[in-house]
Amino acid sequence: MKIIPGMSAQVLAGRIAAELDCKVASCEFTRFPDGELYTRVLGDMKDEEVTIVQSIRTDSDLICLLQLIDAVEEASKTKVVIPYLGYARQDKKFEPGEAISIRAIARSICAVAELDTIYVVNVHNRGVLRYFDVDTKELDASSLIGDYVVKKEIAHPVIIGPDEGATELTKAVAAPYGFDYDVLHKTRISNEKVEIKPKELSVEGKNIVIVDDIISTGGTISEAASMLKAQKANDIYVACIHGVFVQNAIPRMLNAGVKEIIATDTIESEFSKVSIAKMVADVLKR
Ligand code: R5P
Repeated sequence: MKIIPGMSAQVLAGRIAAELDCKVASCEFTRFPDGELYTRVLGDMKDEEVTIVQSIRTDSDLICLLQLIDAVEEASKTKVVIPYLGYARQDKKFEPGEAISIRAIARSICAVAELDTIYVVNVHNRGVLRYFDVDTKELDASSLIGDYVVKKEIAHPVIIGPDEGATELTKAVAAPYGFDYDVLHKTRISNEKVEIKPKELSVEGKNIVIVDDIISTGGTISEAASMLKAQKANDIYVACIHGVFVQNAIPRMLNAGVKEIIATDTIESEFSKVSIAKMVADVLKR
């Protein structure tokens, strides 16, 4: 098998190849003077089984993925790993006339060439997998976050989801290790006042790990961290699967009292302290 490292997943693709002890194809990514992306996969792919690894965080990442699928058309089997499947939050028409972005993207990926399997990691809403006209599987990295919390030896951590949408993830991180967990709940006290606190647990004096699938602007986490600090929580760690970190997300979260930011390498950054490489490699081996 050959790993094809996409523009947005160079490190992760290398790690997956190392786990599998297989070759990484050389790729060229440049731009034409007008800004169009040029992608080339070097070497003969004829009769090779290939796995493309490419996250979709930006529009260019999507173009790059489409080009890579096209470039390896002679391969005997093509699998695609999309560690971060962006656009998955626009999964329905919230307003008339809107595009269901993830549906458009799924359709375009599946239309380029015949694919064997697509793997995605902790997709925001797994219902969107129905838009892929190819066998598409979701991999769950939540236990890797739990492993990291254990290795850090955080004393008696309480795992907190910032909203009810994070309930499943919060439980998946906490339950295998028997950590306490809860999610934050908003109660409107008056027109001006909203109270946000855990549904059941008290956080006073506790070390907290707030977990979310995606951190984008850091707004959700900052609000949660400030509320937990106001309720006298001790150290606050933040862990996510996909660290998108746009605008001032990092200073915003640190300013809200967050002690450490942890993400996986589905999107590569200095906060990618947890690697999904082995999990992906194990699935590809099967
Ligand atoms: C929303 O449903 C997601 O699970 C995240 O909570 C959200 O995308 C985080 O965005 P931000 O960091 O911009 O608050």
